[in-house]
Formats: sequence, C-alpha cells, structure tokens
Amino acid sequence: MRALVTGASGFTGGYMVDHLLEKGYQVRALVRPTSQTDGLSGKAVDVFTGDILSRADLLRAMRNIDVVFHIAALYRAANQPDQAYWDVNVTGTANVMSAALESGVKRVIHCSTCGVHGHIAKPPATEDAPLDPGDIYQQTKVEGEKVANFYFREKGLPVTIVRPVGIYGPGDTRMLKMYRMIYHRKFIMFGGGNVLYHLTYVTDTVEGFRLAAEQPVAIGQTYIIAGDTYFTFNEFARMIADALDVAPPRLKLPVWPVYAAGYVCEKICIPLRIQPPIFRRRVDIFVKDRAFDISKARAELGFAPKVDLRHGIRRTAQWYLENGYLDK
Ligand SMILES: NC(=O)c1ccc[n+]([C@@H]2O[C@H](COP(=O)([O-])OP(=O)(O)OC[C@H]3O[C@@H](n4cnc5c(N)ncnc54)[C@H](OP(=O)(O)O)[C@@H]3O)[C@@H](O)[C@H]2O)c1
Repeated sequence: MRALVTGASGFTGGYMVDHLLEKGYQVRALVRPTSQTDGLSGKAVDVFTGDILSRADLLRAMRNIDVVFHIAALYRAANQPDQAYWDVNVTGTANVMSAALESGVKRVIHCSTCGVHGHIAKPPATEDAPLDPGDIYQQTKVEGEKVANFYFREKGLPVTIVRPVGIYGPGDTRMLKMYRMIYHRKFIMFGGGNVLYHLTYVTDTVEGFRLAAEQPVAIGQTYIIAGDTYFTFNEFARMIADALDVAPPRLKLPVWPVYAAGYVCEKICIPLRIQPPIFRRRVDIFVKDRAFDISKARAELGFAPKVDLRHGIRRTAQWYLENGYLDK
C-alpha cells in the first residue's frame, strides 16, 4: 500500500509515518517548505513539499497513492485569526478530498477531534453524541467533517472520519506546560479537579488510524479513538507528579475569574497577532468533561489501546526530563 500523510512534520503525523513504515507501507510525507523535517530524515520516506491550501500540490502529491491520512490541521496556534483556521481546517480539507477523488485514491482517513463534541453532558460519549464545538478550532473541525461527509455521500469517496481524544507521548509539547508546572511545584488546579479527562498515547492513536484505513466496514463511518479509560483531572495531575517524583499539586483556585481574564486577553491580543498569556481554550480543560466510549472502534476496527495512562505518562515524563524540557 502506498500512503500519503499530510501533517507529517507534526507530532501525530510523524508517528503515523513511523507506524506505516513499520507495517510495510510505502510512505509519502507532505510537508511545507517551512516545516521542521528533522524527524523524517534518514527514513525510507518520500518527502514531498507542498501545501494543503494548494489543490495542484495535492494532485501531484497523490499520484500513485492508495490511501491518504489527512492529519494536517491548524491546531496549537493561539495567535492566529479565525480565517486561518477556516483556510487550513475547512478549505484545506476540501482540497484534500477533491484531489483524492480526482486521483482515484482508494481510502481517505480524515483526522478530526473529539473536541467537536465540546462538553460531554452524559459521559461517556459515543460518536452519536451532540456536536457542540466551543472555539474556532473545534468549529472548523466540525466543518471539516461536513466536507468529508459530503465527499463520501455525494461523490462516493471512500472516507472514514476518526475523532481522536487528546494525544500525548514523547515529542508532544502541548501538555509540556502542565508537566513543567507540576515539576516546579507551580501548578494550580482551577476548579475542583473533578472534571473528566480522556487521552490516548500517540502510538495507539496512529494504530487506530491505520486500522480504520484497512477495514472495509469503516468506509463512510466515524470512530472515536481514545485510551482504555478516562479519569479526573486530579488523577491526571497526580500521575504526572508520581512520574516526575514530586509531590502532587495541592493549590486549587476558582476557575471563572481566569476564564474571564482569558476572554479579555484574547480580545486584545489576537487582533494584534500576539499570543495571549491566557486563553479560554486553556481553561476549558478545567471545566469541560471529556470522556468517551470506544466500543465502536473496538468492535468494528479491532482497536485495542496498548499503552495505559500511567505507563504513557511515565514514558512522556522521562522524555521531557532526558531532553531538558523541564529545566526551564
Ligand atoms: N494533539 C492532540 O491532542 C489532538 C487531539 C485531537 C485531534 N487532533 C488532531 O490531530 C491532528 C494532528 O495534531 P498534532 O497535535 O499532531 O498537530 P501538530 O503537531 O500541530 O501538526 C500539524 C501539522 O499540520 C501541518 N499543516 C498545518 N497547516 C498546513 C498546510 N497549510 N499545509 C500542509 N500542512 C499543514 C503542520 O505543518 P508545519 O510543520 O509546516 O507547521 C504540521 O505538520 C490534527 O488534525 C488535530 O486536529 C490532535
């Protein structure tokens, strides 16, 4: 099988490339001219330079490709205008789908996010839970799903949508701040810490993507990909502290003043293209329940997460320590 991975220079995309190589796929990695590609060097990967905003680039990248793993997205950049999210996550996705159709690609895996469900009122949520995106990233991921569904329903493109929960592991720097604050005993729990949280170790996530691409039953379907269990935010913080061999965080403060401050910071900083010191999405983690049911992926894809949270956190903490990420 010949696979194209978009977002191959990113955290998840890099692991996707490695996993596919391990499974004997021929892999083409789509990267931008500005992408950091050290992680791909020395590997048996065909590195293709292009942008998902260019349909012409995608048509060239998809020549002789059987399966596309569309993982690229605008995700972490808090100082980007809303239009940038629309461009990458919606127009970019439409370009991927349209180029895949024209190229005769046999399968497309579209990476969405469980964030499309927003706060989970009745945990754990299945794929049928209501969609309730809470910010521009999640809104544009919902729109990206609509585009993918359109190409399946109206054009017959064999698409599968995968909704991962929070992805973590060595190489991730999104959760680094929390590890760092716990390590330096500066972590503050906003709210009671009893909110539900769900993660998947990155190697399990990418295995879920591959299984979705290999199962014929997955065509036209949507799957939640998550770890075995969910847990409270207090438990999560405690496991990080254990892995770093420090005392668990104790300080707790009310969350709403921080939420209000985040709102004000975003209103001032984003139009000026400055990274806000606090933004609401960071605070959501303390207030929105996220707990998911992976029965559908288990039954139809044979998905079975291998790395439990405690081990995954240990491996991640070790990687941060060894690479000096916690020194600052
Ligand atoms: N990480 C999580 O916890 C999580 C949870 C749920 C869902 N997801 C989804 O998982 C996927 C991967 O997330 P991640 O954390 O691995 O993100 P990431 O590390 O930020 O990687 C994003 C990738 O997208 C690429 N990209 C952005 N704009 C592009 C464009 N116009 N053309 C081509 N490539 C472009 C980036 O390229 P550059 O290197 O050039 O910037 C990068 O390779 C995303 O679809 C995200 O929505 C992530």
